[in-house]
Amino acid sequence: MARIVAGIGSSHVPAIGAAIDNNKTEEPYWRRVFSGFEKSQAWMRETKPDVAIIVYNDHASAFSVDLIPTFALGCAAEFPPADEGWGPRPVPVVQGYPALASHIAQSVILDEFDLTICNKMEVDHGLTVPMNLLFGKVDKNAHWPCPVIPLAVNVVMYPPPTGHRCFMLGRAIRKAVESYPEDLKVVIFGTGGLSHQISGPRAGLINSKWDKAFLDNLSNNPQKLVKIPHVDYMREAGAEGIEMVMWLIMRGALDDKVDEVYRFYTVPASNTAVGHIILANRPRASHRRTVPGAHKGSAARKAKAPARRAAARAKAAVVRGR
Ligand code: DHB
Ligand code: FE
Repeated sequence: MARIVAGIGSSHVPAIGAAIDNNKTEEPYWRRVFSGFEKSQAWMRETKPDVAIIVYNDHASAFSVDLIPTFALGCAAEFPPADEGWGPRPVPVVQGYPALASHIAQSVILDEFDLTICNKMEVDHGLTVPMNLLFGKVDKNAHWPCPVIPLAVNVVMYPPPTGHRCFMLGRAIRKAVESYPEDLKVVIFGTGGLSHQISGPRAGLINSKWDKAFLDNLSNNPQKLVKIPHVDYMREAGAEGIEMVMWLIMRGALDDKVDEVYRFYTVPASNTAVGHIILANRPRASHRRTVPGAHKGSAARKAKAPARRAAARAKAAVVRGR
């Protein structure tokens, strides 16, 4: 069966894409940002996912105020980079995975999450910048290392989905992936954020205390995050901080208990607090492939648990004199 092995959270600041495209990554300002993703790129090379589900938001590139799907799943064979005003980014066309994407669409819609299905869609910095951060710079004429299933979430026009709805959609996506018969190693990205506000009197707002608590809870206590109302994101993390609800889809697709493999946080990049986290599902005894950073011991311990329990029962019986 297919299995989600890890979740990745990453900001998607468009200026990061411009720094890559214009060869500015070695400048001190950008070095600080990119150095935080070196370990993650090594982890990704080692993990070698067969497919990535990338939860992101479109910034009026593929959609506009004419058409605002709350959740839109990319089922196409490919997704070209969108022209966001300076021509399309010089990155490869993103290859899709139509068979798994349409399986997810069917499973999730029959589970009562009414997704929009996109058979043609361009993708903007919301998707391509996190791909660069995790996969590195890839020549426009080469290929990204794995196919991608984009899931676009409306966080641009009110009303966006609630954190709880996002988390439950993640759960439904996990069920969909696990009912796909092919043996695929899947990673899921939650992107956007962290705190930032781009316009208005509070432009430039960054709230590191809020961001760090969000990352802590994402790792250890996501149920606390699903209760946060939109207005709290807006007040505490800025108007664009609402992008953070997308990370809850990623978290909902993981097990309740996960291993935090890596975390990075820096302020600022452009107007934004950059946050990044890698959370790994613990390997299950039934699944042969593991992921770097996940506690390999726990599955082996679980597999031996019945034998351990039997030994403990026998010992207790001896102690009780039976
Ligand atoms: C910025 C951040 C974003 O998330 C975005 O979509 C656009 C701009 C910024 O920091 O400028
Ligand atoms: Fe954004």
